[in-house]
Amino acid sequence: MTKLPPARILAIETSCDETAAAVLETGRLLLSSTVASQMEVHARYGGVYPEVASRQHVLAIVPVVEETLAKAHMTIGDMDAVAATRGPGLAGSLVVGLNMAKGLALGAGLPLVGVNHLEGHIYAAWLYRPEDEPPPEPKFPLMALLVSGGHTELNLMESHLNYNRLGATLDDAAGEAFDKVARLLGLPYPGGPSVEAAAEKGDPAAFKFPRAWLEGTDNFSFSGLKTAVLKEVKRLETSGTPLPVADLAASFQAAVVEVLFEKTMKAARAYGVKDIVIGGGVSANTPLREAFMGQKGFRVHIPPLRYCTDNAAMVAAAGYYRFALGHTDGMEIDVLPTWPLS
Ligand code: KG4
Ligand code: ZN
Repeated sequence: MTKLPPARILAIETSCDETAAAVLETGRLLLSSTVASQMEVHARYGGVYPEVASRQHVLAIVPVVEETLAKAHMTIGDMDAVAATRGPGLAGSLVVGLNMAKGLALGAGLPLVGVNHLEGHIYAAWLYRPEDEPPPEPKFPLMALLVSGGHTELNLMESHLNYNRLGATLDDAAGEAFDKVARLLGLPYPGGPSVEAAAEKGDPAAFKFPRAWLEGTDNFSFSGLKTAVLKEVKRLETSGTPLPVADLAASFQAAVVEVLFEKTMKAARAYGVKDIVIGGGVSANTPLREAFMGQKGFRVHIPPLRYCTDNAAMVAAAGYYRFALGHTDGMEIDVLPTWPLS
């Protein structure tokens, strides 16, 4: 493959409830990254309140960008391009980050790069900081498991920016299932980390929850599992038994992890790929990470926890490859709240 040119990217991410910016050097080396979380604001509603998210982005975006450039000891004049998440996500949130990026690019005469949030999650596996030992670079062809709050997909990548979607969820995303089950169990928002914490003291074999294997396809389904947990909760409540929250959480989590792990490995073997990349908020889940670690004959790339949930470093990484491979955008681009990866 031809060597890609060096370039510094300022990236902005505002697709949901994090206002984030990052400065990245040549696709991998992260010079600075800032994530302003709105989690506390939304926690009282039990989920992200879109109108509130948009207003919070407006308040945070300028200080977050200024802080990010200052931490890198740089100005906008030191950048080669400005990238921003264009979609998928909440329209009122995306528009704040994309317009900030447009203003910066126009003012500084820099190219603008619109990035798909989902490709960002995959490219999180490329990142490292100056103080870190660079992790091995993922090699193509690779199998990318993308597990976030809104998406669950298996993509076969033969080269940069080339996404061949083999399968996806037919109903709930894995993160969505964690969030819904957390609510059923009375655990606080955000659901994934709450379920994981509750599960630590539970027995993953306490309840035999169903696994939707969807044999012969690379698709997923988690709504049946969620309904099985709901039924069990109702049964226990009717019988007056106090809810064994830890056991329910652990048994649910084990079912999700087993399906994600087994189906990804099966697809990797079927397509003869040796590199596996995992990204998205659910890739922060410890049992999921542990399931993939130490797989003989495969190189598994899972980003550090700070790059699993939403951040702008991952958008900068994907933005770099878009920029370096000539995929820049004009000022007329708009947000795409629904923007499939492939
Ligand atoms: O990628 P992300 O931050 O935002 C989206 O692009 O959707 O993913 C958020 C999702 C939420 O559903 C959240 O519950 C889940 O990731 N999540 C987790 C964990 N941390 C976040 N799920 C399971 N275990 C975790 N530790
Ligand atoms: Zn995300």
